[in-house]
Amino acid sequence: MRGAVEVGGSKNATLGAMAACLLVGDDCLLENVPRIADIEQMADVMRSLGAKVEWDDEHTLRINSASVDRTCPDRELVGSLRGSFLVMGALLGRFGEASCPPPGGDVIGQRPIEVHLEGFRALGADVHIDADAFHARASKLRGNVFFADYPSVLGTQNAMMAAALADGTTTIVNAAAEPEVQNLAEMLNAMGARITGAGTGTITVEGVASLKPVRFPMIPDRLEAGTFAIAGVITGGEVEIQGVNLAHLTSFLYKLRQTGAVVETDGDSLRVRQHGPLKAVTVQALPYPGFATDLQAPFAVLLTQASGVSYVHERVFDNRLLYISELRKMGAEIVTTGTTVAIISGPTPLTGSSLRAMDVRAGAAFILAGLVARGRTEVTDVYHVDRGYERIDEKLRALGASIERV
Ligand code: EPU
Repeated sequence: MRGAVEVGGSKNATLGAMAACLLVGDDCLLENVPRIADIEQMADVMRSLGAKVEWDDEHTLRINSASVDRTCPDRELVGSLRGSFLVMGALLGRFGEASCPPPGGDVIGQRPIEVHLEGFRALGADVHIDADAFHARASKLRGNVFFADYPSVLGTQNAMMAAALADGTTTIVNAAAEPEVQNLAEMLNAMGARITGAGTGTITVEGVASLKPVRFPMIPDRLEAGTFAIAGVITGGEVEIQGVNLAHLTSFLYKLRQTGAVVETDGDSLRVRQHGPLKAVTVQALPYPGFATDLQAPFAVLLTQASGVSYVHERVFDNRLLYISELRKMGAEIVTTGTTVAIISGPTPLTGSSLRAMDVRAGAAFILAGLVARGRTEVTDVYHVDRGYERIDEKLRALGASIERV
């Protein structure tokens, strides 16, 4: 594959930013929003609360929460979108009351919600769970020290949004440091919040009386960037990925270079190519700034083409190697121990097969495998891929891939 490709805005940053628009009753404009299924679904979640959500142009969303008159989103919509649980923190912050049915999400392991609920409790909310939904209520939220058992990304975002309008100062200890958390903190600050420390393990939120509407850009999608970089390397091509934030890709690019791939960076773009055979490496998926769990499956596909034995250790989710049995159908030599360690022997020629995408990242990984496999690869349940990647087929085709949406 050869050529240049531009990455879009971050899916996961946008989900948080959309929820944050519930904190004010006026027009907010979100720029650089990816046109993907998860964002459309979050828009429907917000509409089910009474918010107005519309596209101003191809990648700008206008959200107005003045007419929000419900504090519990539609169950059907929430049930398949994990990020929809973010409305809890924002609704609780603005109205002192929020409910949400259990959120869905990918089948990648246990996805508890306790960190979120504990954050609300730490701020003084009364939290209870019934057969229908999680409920949180407080006559007035009060700042406090909140220790998160795990640096949960959405849990940290929920706590920040609830604390933004609380009385006094909140300290989130063991906060998630992901760029998507930083993006939300910066947006909230642009709305008038007082948040420091985002991007580290301790975030401080000084509550303010009110917030104001904002126009704010989303960060580039680091996961889309990583996926295209792997596409370039795995096909032995040369691909330039434009519009990236290199600081967000440090761990990924480090590991990519360790395989022997050549990575050149310049401002907001990077160029990748193969230089001789790829070498086996060890990868551990960890919270940021560790290697992103969302790039674990795509990277494992690359490692099937590396010479030697690679180890992949998924340490964020406890069941995110389900895609491996599908890759084996293509001839990949991968042994798993338990549900979190994969041992990959390579290089193995892959042969086209029919693979079912079980989540957004596994689906992207199968497309990458198809690019390098002999013969034809068919990826089914491709709606999973469309949840997180904008026009991935068109973008890959423009780089020279033979890929068709059926
Ligand atoms: N965890 C707990 N307790 C909790 C919540 C989470 O122990 O109360 C644990 C989970 O069991 C898991 C780990 O924390 O082992 C990570 O979960 P986290 O809560 O950080 O994940 P998330 O916030 O639900 C976001 C992204 C995911 C991404 C993870 C990790 C969104 C909408 N989703 O999920 O993205 O994998 O952070 O970086 O932001 C994707 O885009 O494909 C995707 C799945």
